[in-house]
Amino acid sequence: MRAWQFVGFGFYLVWNVFYDAQVQLWRVPVPNGWLPKVLSNLEGVLLDHCHLERKAATSALNLIKYPELAARARELNGIAQEELEHFNLLYDLLKSRGVSFGSPKASPWIGGLMKFIRKGRREQVIDHLIAASLIEGRSCDKFQILAEALKETEPSIATMYAELVESEGGHFSAYWRMACEINDEEAHQRLDRFLDLEAKLIIQSNDLPILH
Ligand SMILES: [Fe+2]
Ligand SMILES: [Fe+2]
Repeated sequence: MRAWQFVGFGFYLVWNVFYDAQVQLWRVPVPNGWLPKVLSNLEGVLLDHCHLERKAATSALNLIKYPELAARARELNGIAQEELEHFNLLYDLLKSRGVSFGSPKASPWIGGLMKFIRKGRREQVIDHLIAASLIEGRSCDKFQILAEALKETEPSIATMYAELVESEGGHFSAYWRMACEINDEEAHQRLDRFLDLEAKLIIQSNDLPILH
């Protein structure tokens, strides 16, 4: 890992620690069964990851629809552009490996988080930001695991994952900051509820060739 990548991941870790001084961010670690599942179907997971970057770009653009985030339109647009750069990275990687660009598969983990978003404008925007933040945060955790696991067998993919941690860590913290700026107390209360749900969802393993 190069120095700036280390600094980027360090930023993520520090933010993780300070996410809430009273609350450890994740209730449970990434389950042990996740890595062997991913390694046994790496190309399927790379395809899923490519679609996730496309969805992350769409999600950043969708957040601009909320009046509470109108002043953040340029920042959200910047996040969307970064996600599209990641999409291109994954798309080119799939092409170089001769993987055909198939359809996306639904993730029960992401679906569960998105279903937990409340209706109502302020409620919805805060929950949407927290769900987006947690998706970015778990991606950071998993990218770090993959960067380590693949460094001998797939060094270029390992480097890609190490480099993505910085960018996704920035998105993780940006979405959380935006939620707190709308209503700090409510954002913290909802984060607590989301983390309880996330812990239940992540231990429900699946055999699908997907990242989450
Ligand atoms: Fe991304
Ligand atoms: Fe991201």
